[in-house]
Amino acid sequence: MVEFDDTFRQHLRELFVWRRDVRRFRTDPLPAGAIDRLIETACLSPSVGLSQPWRFVVVEDEARRHAVIDDFKSCNADALKAYSGERAARYATLKLSGLERAPGHLAVFADKASDIGHGLGRATMPETTEYSVVAAITAMWLAARAEGIGIGWVSILNPDRIHAVLEVPPSWKLIAYLCMGYPEVECDRPELEQANWEHRRSADDFTLRR
Ligand SMILES: Cc1cc2nc3c(=O)[nH]c(=O)nc-3n(C[C@H](O)[C@H](O)[C@H](O)COP(=O)(O)O)c2cc1C
Repeated sequence: MVEFDDTFRQHLRELFVWRRDVRRFRTDPLPAGAIDRLIETACLSPSVGLSQPWRFVVVEDEARRHAVIDDFKSCNADALKAYSGERAARYATLKLSGLERAPGHLAVFADKASDIGHGLGRATMPETTEYSVVAAITAMWLAARAEGIGIGWVSILNPDRIHAVLEVPPSWKLIAYLCMGYPEVECDRPELEQANWEHRRSADDFTLRR
């Protein structure tokens, strides 16, 4: 039996406040085993039917990493074209990935074909497979921050292209491509808020009572 006291709860709250999506990394490497340890923590996450559908690919090969960077550049250029005027000008100034400097690249997939969990909970909501993987990524994000390691989630990618670059099984669906490393700076506000792209709203804005 473990008890969590007020001091722990306060620290936990600070962990949530100080977790960031990091795009500006120092280039010094992560300690040996750090990514594997974070993956182990992520594997403690909840999953529909205990299906544990998360699949991790530690991307170390330089050619594959460069292919991912090229894909990001192409997708980001396309994304910019969807904006116009002042919003486009602002989008163009945003830094939306730390792929080039981050020492760690980690792709996270959901295995849509696995029979671990025997289908429990997935008959009416098959998308709970993907939700389970997102839960694991969030746990990893917080665990990493507790070690001073920053994570940046990159979704401006073509999933089919990443699938081909990493040569993973057809039943794996890309959920996230993560940059990992030590952040250049720490901050308690989202970078997109600092860049005046969007601001964090209060819980009241998103909560209904019936
Ligand atoms: C599903 C998902 C996809 C994201 N994709 C990107 C991305 O491609 N590029 C990026 O810069 N940030 C990305 N982010 C990070 C968000 O921009 C970030 O979480 C948000 O601005 C709030 O900032 P914070 O995480 O520092 O609190 C993504 C976050 C999530 C949850």
